[in-house]
Amino acid sequence: MRKTLIVGNWKMNLERLGARSLVSAIRSKLDPQSARLKEQREIAVAPPFVLLYAVSQELAGSDILLAAQNMHFEDSGAYTGEVSPPMLKPFGVRYVILGHSERRQFFKETDDLINKKVKAALRHRINPILCVGETADQRKEGRTLDVVMAQLEGGLEGIEASQLSSLTIAYEPVWAIGTGVNATPEQAQEVHGIIRNRLQARFGTELAQGARILYGGSVTPENAASLLAMPDIDGALVGGASLKADSFAAIVMAGLG
Ligand code: 13P
Repeated sequence: MRKTLIVGNWKMNLERLGARSLVSAIRSKLDPQSARLKEQREIAVAPPFVLLYAVSQELAGSDILLAAQNMHFEDSGAYTGEVSPPMLKPFGVRYVILGHSERRQFFKETDDLINKKVKAALRHRINPILCVGETADQRKEGRTLDVVMAQLEGGLEGIEASQLSSLTIAYEPVWAIGTGVNATPEQAQEVHGIIRNRLQARFGTELAQGARILYGGSVTPENAASLLAMPDIDGALVGGASLKADSFAAIVMAGLG
């Protein structure tokens, strides 16, 4: 069975004190003794790079994992302003979000670059969360599946079957990010199902069935349970609602069996 993964993507928000108090508030709202929580949820937060240390300290002794929002694919070198996988590892970073639509849109990240980052993450045993998703125009033009499949194939180019269990896919329709308009559970399920079919065609049924596919885009405490109830939605990548302890904790606990 796939364990539901809820990741808070803080984007370029918060500073040290705010980050520490957010983590401490999230911890106080999640009962560490809850067997249902332990069994059914994996939780991670993705702060900006400069907050990783403070957040790692605040997370000490909890089950909440640390994620990064991006990274470079080289280990070191003349790449002013960049951060490499070996720099992230000592903070205990377990996941890295790669190819987020904001990276694609504002920083011109291509599938080829994202693929290099996915490979670098796997090489360093940081679990990549590969983001894919269509814009509003692409959906209107009926190109959703073409766009998502091209991003999926591009991001996973050269990835071997043995690496799939370390990988998470996140479907984040660009039109749903930060807009308050989430994909309906049916709209998201349709794309998630097709992503899984594609993984199955490439890596086989067993591995594809084990792969987690997260949904992201205006996830709230109100819509989380219905999204997570869909058969191929294995978690959520949460932006705005992850910046408040109440709403993030409510999403984490949404639909617990
Ligand atoms: P929102 O939850 O703010 O729509 O952001 C989603 C997102 O981009 C998570 O990576």
